[in-house]
Amino acid sequence: MSSLETYFSELRAQFPAVEQKVYGKRLAYLDSAATSLKPRVLADRMHQYYLLETANVHRGAHYLADQGTRHFEEARQTVAKFLNCTSSDEIIFVKGCTEGINLVAHSYAGEFLKSGDEILITDLEHHANIVPWQMIAEKKNLKLKIARALDTGELDLEDFKKKLEGSVKLVAVTGCSNTLGVRTPINEMIKLSHAKGAKVLLDVAQLITQQKIDVQGLDCDFLVFSGHKIFGPTGIGVLYGKKSLLDSMPPYQGGGSMISEVCFPKTTYNDVPFRFEAGTPHIAGVIGLKTALDFFSAIDITKIAAWEDQLLHQAENELSKIPKIALYGQAVDKGPIISFNLKGLHHSDVSSIMDREGVAVRAGHHCTQPLMARMGIAGTLRASFSIYNNAQDIDQLVSSVKKAQEMLT
Ligand code: ALA
Repeated sequence: MSSLETYFSELRAQFPAVEQKVYGKRLAYLDSAATSLKPRVLADRMHQYYLLETANVHRGAHYLADQGTRHFEEARQTVAKFLNCTSSDEIIFVKGCTEGINLVAHSYAGEFLKSGDEILITDLEHHANIVPWQMIAEKKNLKLKIARALDTGELDLEDFKKKLEGSVKLVAVTGCSNTLGVRTPINEMIKLSHAKGAKVLLDVAQLITQQKIDVQGLDCDFLVFSGHKIFGPTGIGVLYGKKSLLDSMPPYQGGGSMISEVCFPKTTYNDVPFRFEAGTPHIAGVIGLKTALDFFSAIDITKIAAWEDQLLHQAENELSKIPKIALYGQAVDKGPIISFNLKGLHHSDVSSIMDREGVAVRAGHHCTQPLMARMGIAGTLRASFSIYNNAQDIDQLVSSVKKAQEMLT
C-alpha cells in the first residue's frame, strides 16, 4: 500500500456507511456531489447535543442555554476561521446554498438593484443559482445575462468579459460545476467583475472540499456553501458576506432574535449576523457543522486533491475504454466528478442496473437543465468521489457500467 492509500484507508474507516452491503453487494458510494457520507464523530457530537445539551440559544439565562449559546457562537468563529473572514459577524447561518443565494437575491439585489440593472450568471449553474435571480429579475425588471461554457465545459472567459459590458451589478457563479466537475476561473472572474463595479457571489457547494477557500484572498463579496457536502449535517449552510455589505442590507425574514426592539408603531432590527437569523436556528446543525469543519481541517488538503485526482483519472481512463461511451466535461482543471452516457441507452436504465451492482451514482439533469440543453442531452450518469472512496470503488463502477451495457444492448 502506498502512503496515500494507507492515509485514506484510515480515513475511510471513520465512515461506517461504506461498510454496508446493498442488495447483498459491496456499496460503492459515488454520489458525494449530491451529499457526502458522514464520519462517526459527527453523529456522536449531534447525539450528545440532543441527549444532554438541548437548550435554545441567545435567549435563556440558565446553564444549558449559556453553554448552547457558547457552542453556537464558537461554531460561527470556526466557520469564520475556516474561510479566513475578517470577523465572525460575516457568517450567517442558513439552511444551505439555496437559502444563502435567495437571501442575497432578496435582500441585496431586491434592495439595491434598479430597473434595467443586470445580473450575470453562467450556463454551468445549478438551479439554485439560476431561479432566485430569475425571480428577483422578474419582480424588479432586471436583466439576467448568461456567460456561456465552451464545449469542453470550461467557462468561455471571452464571452464572460463581453457579457460584463453594460449594467452588470451582480455576478453569481459556481466555483465548480456540480454536473461536469469543471472548475471556473474564479480569481479572474472576480477581478474582471470588480473592475466593472459589479459585486460577486461565489457558489462553492462543490469547491469547498476541493481546495482552501480564503474569502479575503479571493475578495468575493458573498459566498455560500452547504454543510452536508462537507461531511456535516443537512439543513445547515453558510452565507458569507463582506461586513459593510451585510450591514447595509435589510432583513430577509422577520421573527424572534432578528430584532432590536418590537413595538406596534415601528420595529427596529438587530445587528448582523443576527438580523438575518430569525427564529430558533438549527442549533444541532450548527454544532455539527463545527465538528465537520474540525474533522475536515485536520486532513491535509493537498493529500485530498492528490487522492481525488488519482481516482478521477483512474475512472476517466477506464471508462473511456468502454465502447460507445460519451464523457462530458473534458477540461484540465476538474474536481472529482465525472459525467457520462452510454450512447443509445437512457441514463435511468443504466443507473438502475448499476444500483443493483451496489454502485450509487446520480442519474438525470442534476438540477442543471440549462446546461443539459446547452449540451443537447436530457441527462447524464454522474459519479463523484470523496475521501472515503478507493480504487476498488472505481473498479466496481467500471464493471457495473459494462454490465449495464451488456444487459441493455
Ligand atoms: N446539488 C446536488 C447535486 O449536484 C444535490 O447532486
